[in-house]
Amino acid sequence: MSGELIYEVENVSKNYGSVVALDGASLKLHAGEVVGLVGDNGAGKSTLVKVLSGAHQPDAGRILLDGKERHWGSPREALDAGIETLYQDSGLAPHLTVSENVFLGRELVAPGLLGKLGFLAKKNMAREAHEDLERVGIAVPASSRSISQLSGGQRQAVAIGRAVSWARKVIILDEPTNHLGARQAGEVLEVIKAAKAKGLGVIFISHTLPHVLEVTDRIVVLRLGRIVMDAPTSEFNSDRLLGTITGSISAAGAEGE
Ligand SMILES: Nc1ncnc2c1ncn2[C@@H]1O[C@H](COP(=O)(O)OP(=O)(O)OP(=O)(O)O)[C@@H](O)[C@H]1O
Ligand SMILES: [Mg+2]
Repeated sequence: MSGELIYEVENVSKNYGSVVALDGASLKLHAGEVVGLVGDNGAGKSTLVKVLSGAHQPDAGRILLDGKERHWGSPREALDAGIETLYQDSGLAPHLTVSENVFLGRELVAPGLLGKLGFLAKKNMAREAHEDLERVGIAVPASSRSISQLSGGQRQAVAIGRAVSWARKVIILDEPTNHLGARQAGEVLEVIKAAKAKGLGVIFISHTLPHVLEVTDRIVVLRLGRIVMDAPTSEFNSDRLLGTITGSISAAGAEGE
C-alpha cells in the first residue's frame, strides 16, 4: 500500500478573470500512490496541475510538500523540489533532438573552459538520455533524431520518459495517453506502475476511464472546479465513475441530483 503523505493542496482556488477554474479544491498524495484526477472538459484538472507544478500561483489555499508550506514562484522551483510534470500540451521543443529534449532546461555543461563558454556535453547527454528512457521502459528512437521527425506517440513517449526519469518525489501526468495507440497507451500505464513501485507519488489525468480504473489507487473527481468525490478506486466501477463525473450520480453516491 502507499506510504507517507508527500504532497498536498488545501482549499486552492484559481480564477481566470471572471472564470472560476478551481474553487476550494484539496488533494493529498502519498508515496507509492497513484491518484487519478478526472472530470469533464473544463472541470479544472489542468488548472490544478499548473498549481501543483508551480506554473500558476493559486489565488487562495495552501501547498504543502513533506508537511511544509511552499510557494512556488516558478515551475523551476517545483522541479528542483522533485516534482515533475508532463503538461497536457507536452512542451517538447520540435527542432531539438530527443536527448536535448530529455535535458531541456537542465543541460549538462562540458567540463572546463568549454563549459564556461557555454558548450554542452552533448555526447554525455545523448548517452544518459538513452539510458534514462530505457530504464523507465520507453522504447526510444535514436536520441539524435529531432523531435519533429517522430510520430505523435513517440514524442509523447519521450515526454513521459523525461518526466519519469527526473522525478524524485512526485510525477504529474496530464492526459499522457492522449493520441496514443492501444499498445503505446499500455506501455504508458506500465511506466506509471513502475513509477509507483519506485515510491513516487503519481497524479494521472485521463478521460479514458478504463485506464484510470486500471492503474490508480484512488480517484478524485472534479466538477466545475470543485472536488465532488475522493475515494479508493475499489469503490468505483465504470458506471459509477462516469455518473460522478457527469453529475448524474451525486457525490454522496445517490442517484440523481
Ligand atoms: N489561460 C486561461 N484563461 C482563461 N480561462 C482558462 C484558462 N485556462 C483554463 N481556463 C478555463 O478554466 C476552466 C478550467 O480549465 P482546465 O483547463 O483546468 O480544464 P480541464 O479539466 O483540464 O479540461 P480538459 O479535460 O478539457 O483538459 C475552463 O472553464 C477553462 O475554459
Ligand atoms: Mg486539461
